Amino acid sequence: MGGEAFVETFGTIYASNITPAAIGDWTDGELVQAITEGVNRDRQPLFPIMPSSRYKEMDIEDLYSVVAYLRMLKSISNDVSEKKLKFPFNHIERTFPETYNPISKPADTDKLAYGKYLATIADCISCHTPRNKTGKPIEELYLAGGYEFPIHGGGTVRASNITPDNTTGIGSWVGEDFINRFMEYSFPPGEGIPVEQENNTIMPWSAYATMTDADLSAIYLYLMSVAPINNNVNEWGRTE
Ligand code: HEC
Repeated sequence: MGGEAFVETFGTIYASNITPAAIGDWTDGELVQAITEGVNRDRQPLFPIMPSSRYKEMDIEDLYSVVAYLRMLKSISNDVSEKKLKFPFNHIERTFPETYNPISKPADTDKLAYGKYLATIADCISCHTPRNKTGKPIEELYLAGGYEFPIHGGGTVRASNITPDNTTGIGSWVGEDFINRFMEYSFPPGEGIPVEQENNTIMPWSAYATMTDADLSAIYLYLMSVAPINNNVNEWGRTE
């Protein structure tokens, strides 16, 4: 239902309400445009925390499934505050809209390509690649972590280095370690995740725990194929 505040160098941006109460009268085309091009129905840019630069590659069938799913959500009224961008980001933001440039979903037998596709549309890449001060991903630190998020109740958490670097990334993990790390969070529906306050994370572990082993292992294979980057991330530490 939105409302999550992302406090950044750029200002304060609130995640939108995307239940039918707010977007019920948007057409499918307008929703597709928001997801893939990062613009609202008036073609005004959405701040690029919304990862359209990755979603623009989503296969059209998957995109329709997302739209169909949004239509099925329970309608929740929640007036989310307008974003407040600091100068100069209120101007820079206008340069961000993307163009929908879909790739066809690779066959799941082509594990590497399929894993890359999943990592793209499941958002791993946008969260695990840090951004520069204008919100653009730093491609030299592709998947090397460090992107910092504020968490409820104060504090911050940083995305981990998930490149195959042996010391600072997940290079020493075998496929089973990777899958098990996600399975730790598979709970029957309705049961909360017992996370310690100081270890609150925005990594959507429980949502991903519903992925199949085959999908997770394809993602793992893809991650193992990217360039290892030595970048030591202190996930739970305070900002220096
Ligand atoms: C909304 C942001 C976000 C998204 C999306 C996201 N992650 Fe994360 N991830 C994090 C953060 C923050 C951490 C560090 C805190 C933690 O371990 O929960 C993390 C931790 C991890 C870790 C643990 C690494 C370690 O060294 O313990 C792995 C593995 C991981 N993510 C893989 C993925 C994969 C694969 C995807 C996509 C399917 C993904 N993440 C999507 C934010 C995200």
